[in-house]
Amino acid sequence: MDLRVGRHPVLGDMGKGTPVTIYVDGRPLTAREGEPIAAALYANGIKTTRYSSRSGEPRGPFCMIGRCTECAMTVDGVPNVRTCLTPVRDGMRVETPGRSRS
Ligand code: FES
Repeated sequence: MDLRVGRHPVLGDMGKGTPVTIYVDGRPLTAREGEPIAAALYANGIKTTRYSSRSGEPRGPFCMIGRCTECAMTVDGVPNVRTCLTPVRDGMRVETPGRSRS
């Protein structure tokens, strides 16, 4: 079963996308160039995008259209990037905020 997003309600058709490598918490993952980072994570079995600053509970994408901020991660050193709207580029470095709390 392919868990990739074919058509995103904001970004549009994803197409096939060239396979690229991104690094999530230092771990290399194969993604497709242009797909949302959150979709690439989901396709690789990663459902946690941050940890709650209050409870430490894992949180994950909810709306996938840029409204809820549950998908906010640190991307190439920039904090609070909405990964549901940010297209994958080769070599991106993605970090899970609050990861050390778990
Ligand atoms: S999943 Fe809601 S803003 Fe990204």
